[in-house]
Amino acid sequence: MTNDADWPAIEVDGLRKVYQQLVAVDDVSFVMQRGEAFGFLGPNGAGKSTIVKMITGLVRPTEGTVQVLGCPVSDLEMRRRVGYLPELPNFHRWLRTQEFLAFHGRLYGLRGHTLAKRCAEVLAQVGLTGREQQKLGTFSKGMLQRIGLAQALLNKPDLIILDEPVSGLDPVGQSDMRNILLRLKAQGTSIFLNSHQLADVEAICDRVAIIDKGHLLKIGPPQSLFDEPLTLEVRVDCANAELLRRLGAVSLAVQQDEHNPCRILVEVQHEQLAADIAEAVHASGARLYLLKPHGRTLEDLFLHTLGTSH
Ligand SMILES: Nc1ncnc2c1ncn2[C@@H]1O[C@H](COP(=O)(O)OP(=O)(O)O)[C@@H](O)[C@H]1O
Ligand SMILES: [Mg+2]
Repeated sequence: MTNDADWPAIEVDGLRKVYQQLVAVDDVSFVMQRGEAFGFLGPNGAGKSTIVKMITGLVRPTEGTVQVLGCPVSDLEMRRRVGYLPELPNFHRWLRTQEFLAFHGRLYGLRGHTLAKRCAEVLAQVGLTGREQQKLGTFSKGMLQRIGLAQALLNKPDLIILDEPVSGLDPVGQSDMRNILLRLKAQGTSIFLNSHQLADVEAICDRVAIIDKGHLLKIGPPQSLFDEPLTLEVRVDCANAELLRRLGAVSLAVQQDEHNPCRILVEVQHEQLAADIAEAVHASGARLYLLKPHGRTLEDLFLHTLGTSH
């Protein structure tokens, strides 16, 4: 028998969606593995939400196939194992937190003690314990997003799909949401995240797909998507000539910080060469304190990729 965990979280092949004359999504294919945090990044109107809606079965593809946890989108058993936070969740503002969660829990087939226990657990997960009797209409936007996430977690999903979960949140709300997602990821939940919050995608996602005008432009780990050389910051206990010579041998350029000689910027062709940098430091007898990408963010990547696609 095939092990259930062998199936990818999401497998999309040749996906296309045409609304009247408008091609919203065109020939999109990707595989997201189980346990992976996968991000979709793109400007407004790129087709991100349309793809999420095709993955969650809310919109029917014009062409192409979608498999979620190894099942077709219509499979009800599979749907019980997926949590979904829509882009603009519409909350019944007159409901109390407990009533809202109980309603959604019953839709997942939860009842009685199990339902009450799950409601308490998800509220704790999103940091809203004690708000059970508060009406949704009195919550801030950040709290509503957290309630929406609590709802999506009720069924202990293997896969959670979030469409712009931090848009419109203040920095504290964004950071809270990011931490909740990082905890879920650490627990093994597969996370599909649509966002134009580049920092969040970079912090949470193992791989990112860049999408614009319905097309996938690039896909890969955030750092590997840059096609120019990469600068790494190296910090050591002591930088001697031997260290600089060895670093020079495995990199494109070496630049010592004039104010702090133990801080060195090295330029390499791709991120896998970080291992060679660490080895060079070690071989010179110095101790490595820090090795990290320098001065490049997904924001740069995003602008660069879109710039070349227009
Ligand atoms: N129900 C719909 N009917 C017609 N056009 C739509 C519909 N939903 C989305 N679109 C169009 O499809 C394109 C992609 O939209 P969307 O998937 O919402 O993008 P994103 O989530 O990346 O902002 C946009 O041009 C949008 O106007
Ligand atoms: Mg959208």
